[in-house]
Amino acid sequence: MSGAGVGPGVGPGVAGLLAEVADVGRDATRGGYSRFVYDDAELTLREWFTEQAERRSMEVETDRNGALWAWRHGGGPGRPGSPGSPGSPGAPSAVVTGSHLDSVPGGGAYDGPLGVASALAAVDLLDARGVRSERPLAVVAFPEEEGARFGVACLGSRLLTGAVDPDRARGLRDADGRTFAEVAGAAGLDVAHIGADPRRLAGIGAFVELHVEQGRGLVDLDRPVAVGSSVLGHGRWRLVVEGEGNHAGTTLMADRRDPLVAAAAVVLAVREVATRYDDARATVGRLQPVPGGTNVIASRVDLWLDARHPDDAVTAALVEQVHARAQELAAAEGCTVTLVEESYGGTVHFDGALRDRIRGVLPGAPVLATGAGHDAGVLAGAVPTAMLFTRNPSGVSHSPHEHVEDVDAEAGAVALADVLADLLGD
Ligand code: GLV
Ligand code: MN
Ligand code: MN
Repeated sequence: MSGAGVGPGVGPGVAGLLAEVADVGRDATRGGYSRFVYDDAELTLREWFTEQAERRSMEVETDRNGALWAWRHGGGPGRPGSPGSPGSPGAPSAVVTGSHLDSVPGGGAYDGPLGVASALAAVDLLDARGVRSERPLAVVAFPEEEGARFGVACLGSRLLTGAVDPDRARGLRDADGRTFAEVAGAAGLDVAHIGADPRRLAGIGAFVELHVEQGRGLVDLDRPVAVGSSVLGHGRWRLVVEGEGNHAGTTLMADRRDPLVAAAAVVLAVREVATRYDDARATVGRLQPVPGGTNVIASRVDLWLDARHPDDAVTAALVEQVHARAQELAAAEGCTVTLVEESYGGTVHFDGALRDRIRGVLPGAPVLATGAGHDAGVLAGAVPTAMLFTRNPSGVSHSPHEHVEDVDAEAGAVALADVLADLLGD
């Protein structure tokens, strides 16, 4: 797959780049990495990204939603917004690649950063091959892809495409009660101007996100790199169970209205409802009793449901059934429950023509669907979009056990460079 014969060994390579950030955002309590948008670790990664891009003579800008864009000037016009830029009439459209730098709590080293490091390594390969083009190339790092701080997954790409209302985004709160407006504003973003950016999108001819594979598809096929076909429809819902906060010692068992007992039953119900549907996945990975004291009966419990299915109607039915069961279970404990959707994206099938073109460039690469969410899934509604996956021998992700062998990381970067060279050749 190494196209013009330039392969790993050009520049630091993907493994060398990831080694530079291996100590950033390590989580001593959970294990792995916790890199939340605009926290110290994520800001350090942004600085690292900027420095790496500048080393490659790329021009870095932060867009109105806090995404970083590094533009490689291959003899073509500059970034969107400048005269003759992508998005202006007659200008060649840009090829964009990249991923995200933030992580889930206690995540692995590759989910997000692998795509960014592979993109930078691909730029090195294109430079080494002497690939120049009229079409501009950008490497992008989207903020808050995991939604780990403000709750809405792919917040940066959703803002860019207009899939989330800017007022709602400004008001999102983190676990400390700080709003997105406060936190992003403190990091230097002009939060009055976040929101859809149709001109930027109009300047993009293709977006290709490389990502660590988050299952066992490539392990089972014994291949290092795959082309993505689709992203499973998925969403997040918050259930708030309310009861009566009270004393753990003085409140008789018969007198309790304990929302944590109701929430525990809801967790079991989520699994039971999900098993009614082939191919459904439903998870409660986060549950927060308030106030959260050992000798305190909680007054409220917030729990978050993550539900996914290829058929959007099935996801809706599943969530409705969970809600109905939760109301019964809460009532049985003398509690109440409300359900609020925090984010949703239907199943996405990537652009068929772009996928087939990429298959032509990478003839040995299998085509795989993913059950994970990605900025590429959001961008796909606005620009021709594709994904590449790099093998993960553990098959595990959102965990410190996520892994990529160096040789596969380099194979992924070479595959990405081959794809970018082909797209830039238009
Ligand atoms: C992000 O990785 C998700 O699938 O939620
Ligand atoms: Mn992830
Ligand atoms: Mn990711």
